[in-house]
Amino acid sequence: MNWRRFFCCCCSFEEKDQIGENKSRDYPWEIYTLKEILHATNNFHDDNKIGEGGFGSVYWGRTSKGIAVKRLKGMSSKAEMEFAVEVEILGRVRHKNLLGLRGFYASADERLIVYDYMPNHSLTTHLHGQLAADCFLDWPRRMSIAIGSAEGLVYLHHEANPHIIHRDIKASNVLLDANYQAKVADFGFAKLIPEGVTHMTTRVKGTLGYLAPEYAMWGKVSESCDVYSFGILLLEIISARKPLEKLPGGVKRDIVQWVTPYVKKGAFDRIADPRLQGKFDRAQLKSAVMVALRCTESNPENRPSMLEVVKWLKGGVEIRKVVTDIEHMLEEDGDNETDTDFQGFRGLVQNQNSFKVKY
Ligand SMILES: Nc1ncnc2c1ncn2[C@@H]1O[C@H](COP(=O)(O)OP(=O)(O)OP(=O)(O)O)[C@@H](O)[C@H]1O
Ligand SMILES: [Mg+2]
Repeated sequence: MNWRRFFCCCCSFEEKDQIGENKSRDYPWEIYTLKEILHATNNFHDDNKIGEGGFGSVYWGRTSKGIAVKRLKGMSSKAEMEFAVEVEILGRVRHKNLLGLRGFYASADERLIVYDYMPNHSLTTHLHGQLAADCFLDWPRRMSIAIGSAEGLVYLHHEANPHIIHRDIKASNVLLDANYQAKVADFGFAKLIPEGVTHMTTRVKGTLGYLAPEYAMWGKVSESCDVYSFGILLLEIISARKPLEKLPGGVKRDIVQWVTPYVKKGAFDRIADPRLQGKFDRAQLKSAVMVALRCTESNPENRPSMLEVVKWLKGGVEIRKVVTDIEHMLEEDGDNETDTDFQGFRGLVQNQNSFKVKY
């Protein structure tokens, strides 16, 4: 983190009057004063609150375009790190499927991050929350959101320099703009990967249910951890089931365990969200499920890259091979999971207190 630059930019919030409306600036941020943010959010009034996450609350702000302001709670070193990483990473990236940073503010007791406001909220709201019953997400919209999120990840993994691993891909971090275009958000856990490095070992961060086994168990992080999380997200988009469900008796079942028996029986219609009322493209549904299963393979080396995922989701010729491969794999598997590591991981997930995620 270039702290000098970071603090210079913070100051610039306060300098608007001196700088004026500088449209020809060479940095991507808008310039806000704290007064403007307070005015826009009605002093962080409860009525303006959109939601709350692990690190703070998000408020809607009235400005010409509409803003969302994340107000980090507490001034712990973890919150400080989340703020620094988010601002550093978002300052580097620009892509149609990544949430845009509009600015930020830091003072002795306040850390604020200003984003574009996403009027259609997050995928979570549509799949499991207040908007789920209205079913605004028809099948074509779901597929375009899946492809858009995947394209955002292609940019992070393959185009950004250095490459970026997001580490917290999940439904609440996929926001939807006015046209339901997907915007991947929340870069507070992201990691920059230096040239030539294939994986790194780190403390586990992220959200239970979306974590790749090698990452959850050994902290081994690489782009394929995001691919795994994306696979879980894809199944969630298709089925509107949560990544982890609590069964009667307290046992936990993950979405891959839920979907596998239907795939083995070829009962793909049973996988689709019942709210779609059968209105989906069957071939597309089948290939999307197969792609998700490839993404969630227990061995990271068997997972595709996000470039392949986008190609397959867009219906490239190779998709037939993916479908056949997975069908063979499931036939060979019989009814038993063969991968002991993965079994171990599933056991770990089912006993969720055995490792800590997200601090
Ligand atoms: N730019 C935005 N526009 C509209 N809603 C947003 C925006 N940014 C965040 N939100 C919403 O605000 C809520 C809180 O977001 P936040 O990222 O703090 O937490 P989260 O994603 O729910 O959980 P976590 O802390 O695990 O990431 C979420 O419902 C999110 O969808
Ligand atoms: Mg979030």
